[in-house]
Amino acid sequence: MAFAAEIRILNGLPELFQAAASEFITLAVEAIRSKGKFCVALSGGSTPRGLYTLLANQPQHSIPWEKIYFLWGDERHVPPDHPDSNYRMAYEAMLSKVPIPAENIFRIHAEEKDADAAARAYEQTLTAFFHLQPGEFPRLDLILLGMGPDGHTASVFPGTRALHEKTRLVVANWVEKLNAYRFTMTLPVLNHSACAMFLVSGRDKANVLREVLEHQTEELPASLVRPTNGRLVWMIDQEAASALPAQLRGGSRVANF
Ligand code: 6PG
Repeated sequence: MAFAAEIRILNGLPELFQAAASEFITLAVEAIRSKGKFCVALSGGSTPRGLYTLLANQPQHSIPWEKIYFLWGDERHVPPDHPDSNYRMAYEAMLSKVPIPAENIFRIHAEEKDADAAARAYEQTLTAFFHLQPGEFPRLDLILLGMGPDGHTASVFPGTRALHEKTRLVVANWVEKLNAYRFTMTLPVLNHSACAMFLVSGRDKANVLREVLEHQTEELPASLVRPTNGRLVWMIDQEAASALPAQLRGGSRVANF
């Protein structure tokens, strides 16, 4: 079934971060105007650091930080001060630099040795925050995502159990190739969002990105992110876009695929 995704190809990382920051602020202002708060799930890895830094450096009056609530789409099974922690990266790049109340920040307690217990605790956090009824999924205003060279997104990796999860909100997903658990929001939660926005840069992702945009397959978990009643936005730099067909490489467009 065709799906209308918004594909924006930017000239390099600074332009990509600027476009993503503008989208973030627009969505935040609109959500706060209409319902008094903006709920966003942050992604990890390295690409989003530049976006978080840019947001932290905006004039503080331009972003109503006190009405923004931060969650995480995924996390590594490490303490919050560990170099690999997605929370630590966001805290250092942004959260420690802006006037956001501590109670607006909901990190995954990934220091917990029992990974399944930590995942279930985060599900409880989501259930309480979004006042969810049993079987209901939270609707985040924005979920930021990245994509690995293997087509994973959040911590839904090819060949892992999280791929088939249809009811849980958050799982501790064993990733054999990492020999580690990763915490991840599940695909139903990603696809229940009002906006899923990918930030993808680098030539090493070019071929897999073309595959992801052209096929929906479990081999490429990022291809399974298609919000049922929301926007799908791809913020891509020219290097990552270098294998896309010409009709997709001309700046901003909505592509059905
Ligand atoms: C993580 C991320 C992961 C990331 C991709 C892309 O915890 O690592 O959530 O899904 O987004 O691996 O990472 P880069 O943007 O650093 O390439």
